[in-house]
Amino acid sequence: MTYFKKLALAASIATALSSSAMAADMTIGFSQIGSESGWRAAETSVTKQQAEKRGITLKFADAQQKQENQIKAIRGFIAQGVDAILVAPVVATGWDDVLTEAKEAKIPVILLDRGVDASQDLYLTSVASDQVKEGKVAGDWLVGAVKDKDCKVVELQGTVGSTPAINRKKGFEEAIAGHNNISIVRSQTGDFTRSKGKEVMEGFLKAENGGKGICAVYAHNDDMAVGAIQAIKDAGLKPGTDILVVSIDGVPDIFAAMVAGEANATVELTPNMAGPALDALAAYKKDGTVPPKFIITESKLYTPADNPQGEYDARKGLGY
Ligand code: AHR
Repeated sequence: MTYFKKLALAASIATALSSSAMAADMTIGFSQIGSESGWRAAETSVTKQQAEKRGITLKFADAQQKQENQIKAIRGFIAQGVDAILVAPVVATGWDDVLTEAKEAKIPVILLDRGVDASQDLYLTSVASDQVKEGKVAGDWLVGAVKDKDCKVVELQGTVGSTPAINRKKGFEEAIAGHNNISIVRSQTGDFTRSKGKEVMEGFLKAENGGKGICAVYAHNDDMAVGAIQAIKDAGLKPGTDILVVSIDGVPDIFAAMVAGEANATVELTPNMAGPALDALAAYKKDGTVPPKFIITESKLYTPADNPQGEYDARKGLGY
């Protein structure tokens, strides 16, 4: 190894050691929404793993779906003087005051997986998918699947007022606009949960002639799709055949449903939002490197042609 290569290696080892030493000294607060879905539970465990890997002390607060609990938790983190705050905001609005308090306390805030309607200078960065794109990918898949056939779609929306519910609806509508054979005939929130997805789908089936008028269900997450699949089966129809099922997340259960022929497409959302968030934070703490305001994760489409058994196996142990 040349002298210069040795120098470069020593410098990179020193940089890695100093940033991991810096990360190891950090205490971070994480205000999580709750555990409404398989994806959410995976995000929680991946975030804990990512913090542990870096030697970060993570203070975890489960808000049980309530924004007021999140605000209370963030205020608690500020009072404790944490080094940074991660927050997955349950809804888009109502964050200005608490984020301003964090800013005044000079505590950087990083948004995970959902956005806020607030000034961008109130958070360091946001690590999330392009949720409009997710809806668009799902809608484009349906357009391709039904071709010229008439298709009445029922839509299971996510939590009212959350950015994924707003944006996934928008993206899907953009994809089917101009395809007059496809229309959304019913749309209601299932709050991103399996039980509400099932309950709302039962209502849709009753309202639409026992389901005979429905060609597809578009669910804003896989858990609601899995609930809908159960409702379709209970109604004596075949999910995946009589009624197409398209959703978002890429959790193991939707791949199991694909293996069983009961689901047709999903758009993957990685549960690892914390990895890029903590890397951005480490660089910021080390030398003030300001990350991009939006760090966008991938949105990949999976169908039964994409080895669903392999995808199921690959995800087991990854926080699911
Ligand atoms: O914000 C991401 C969404 O929230 C996931 O798609 C869903 O499963 C979760 O509850």
